[in-house]
Amino acid sequence: MDVNEGVILANDLFKTLCAAAIGGVITATAIVAMSTNDSAGNNAVPIAQEAPTKTYARPYDLLHIMHQFQRFADKLYFAGKAENERLTGWYLWKLEQAALHVTNHETQPWYPAKYDEAVLFEQMLFPAIADLNKTVEAKDWASFNDGYVDLIATCNACHGATAHEYIRIIIPTSPIYNNQDYSIPTD
Ligand code: HEC
Repeated sequence: MDVNEGVILANDLFKTLCAAAIGGVITATAIVAMSTNDSAGNNAVPIAQEAPTKTYARPYDLLHIMHQFQRFADKLYFAGKAENERLTGWYLWKLEQAALHVTNHETQPWYPAKYDEAVLFEQMLFPAIADLNKTVEAKDWASFNDGYVDLIATCNACHGATAHEYIRIIIPTSPIYNNQDYSIPTD
């Protein structure tokens, strides 16, 4: 096959793909229209009739959990600085919940088999989260900073234990997101 023939074949393929894509858009639109109308033809929010039964072999990588950790650790800090007990407790719970995907073995195991991240979470991370949670529940805001420093030290200790000592988490100076108010709502 010469080069020109290849280009012509590629063009044909492109046209076929475009046609398929347009067909797909029409089908998807029709499905949305059906699902947003109830039997009387009124607009209705589609509600799932059954709990999803599909199980995913690979819902997350460890790295995705780490991205959640990074975000929640940042938000946790500013919620704590604002002495907002409910929000701080909620981010601690979100941190733990993200880690539970690993300890419940719902994630793709991280590849170097010599490290077991589930065991490391249970032994290192959960105690640091539990300690900080006690501080928050006791509204001991004077100790919040120390507990937070311990938590971050745990993140970095595990990075060291898994040969990722070059990933260093620090105490944040300004929130990653600037569109959230961390203070206790007054209204
Ligand atoms: C199992 C021990 C362990 C603990 C505990 C741990 N990490 Fe990690 N972390 C890792 C490993 C391993 C990687 C590298 C993953 C990879 O290579 O896919 C990583 C990677 C990361 C990255 C790099 C992601 C990127 O996109 O830059 C960040 C950020 C991170 N962790 C944040 C945290 C934070 C914040 C905490 C504490 C709340 C934490 N980690 C606790 C093991 C851990």
